[in-house]
Amino acid sequence: MRAEQVLRLERAAAALGGRTIWSDVSLTVDGGRFVAVLGPNGAGKSTLLRTILGLVPLTAGDATVLGAPPGARNDMIGYLPQRRELDPAVRVRGVDLVRLGLDGGRWGVPLPAWLPGNRTGRAAARRVTDVLELVDAAAYARRPIGELSGGERQRVLIAQALVREPELLMLDEPLDSLDLPGQRSVAALLQRICRTRGVAVVLVTHDVNPILPYLDQVVYFASGRAMAGAPEDVIASGALTGLYGVPIEVLRASDGRLVVVGQPEAPHVHTPRHA
Ligand SMILES: Nc1ncnc2c1ncn2[C@@H]1O[C@H](COP(=O)(O)OP(=O)(O)OP(=O)(O)O)[C@@H](O)[C@H]1O
Ligand SMILES: [Mg+2]
Repeated sequence: MRAEQVLRLERAAAALGGRTIWSDVSLTVDGGRFVAVLGPNGAGKSTLLRTILGLVPLTAGDATVLGAPPGARNDMIGYLPQRRELDPAVRVRGVDLVRLGLDGGRWGVPLPAWLPGNRTGRAAARRVTDVLELVDAAAYARRPIGELSGGERQRVLIAQALVREPELLMLDEPLDSLDLPGQRSVAALLQRICRTRGVAVVLVTHDVNPILPYLDQVVYFASGRAMAGAPEDVIASGALTGLYGVPIEVLRASDGRLVVVGQPEAPHVHTPRHA
């Protein structure tokens, strides 16, 4: 299990279109940890992932990703972006999609050095098969991706993000469009990957409840700030009241679900695009 620090942000700030999205964000993530990124629409969750990839530069503070500046080690990061439109008519099969991830189609980077053979070799095919088995998608991996259910497709996409054996896996809302059992089983799968492979998983989600039992850590974005820590410390009335700056109450329902009451409306997203 990899135990080193995978991610470190120190009083970091990010801006888009001349507007500061968040600032003073500090957090650390160690290898093998399962971390959820929470917060209302527009709070800057996707922006966090994009800063980690070096796609959005920091305007203040520091970030270290896998021991290097953001962007330098993207070949060791698996990334599933938020908007993933798939044409139902698409005839590409799951195995092809995963193979595309191995070939560096997403990043335009060459094959990793650890892989014996080359992209046409048996090693690559073996790797694709292994990762599809790891996410329990082998049974439908040879069907066109457009025919798969939301949950099946999600597993194939996670396999694609995993196929290069990343040390950090970042998934932007991989659970939406999944039903509750689907969300739980994907969460259990991700926890298993954390535990057995030592991969750190950073997952953006709107509803923490289905994955709460699996999490090590949460990062909660609101009001241009973020708070990181253990789930029970962050998703708590006092902590969220401090973060939002208005009274927030966290209730625990009889079934164990956490309900956050009193969140202000998400700010309007009609931001002028000119700086
Ligand atoms: N190119 C841009 N120029 C200016 N503002 C932008 C740009 N891209 C995004 N934003 C704004 O940055 C803010 C943060 O966006 P981000 O996508 O990180 O939010 P999010 O927390 O992921 O939201 P959601 O839950 O809706 O996915 C939003 O208010 C968004 O409108
Ligand atoms: Mg987002």
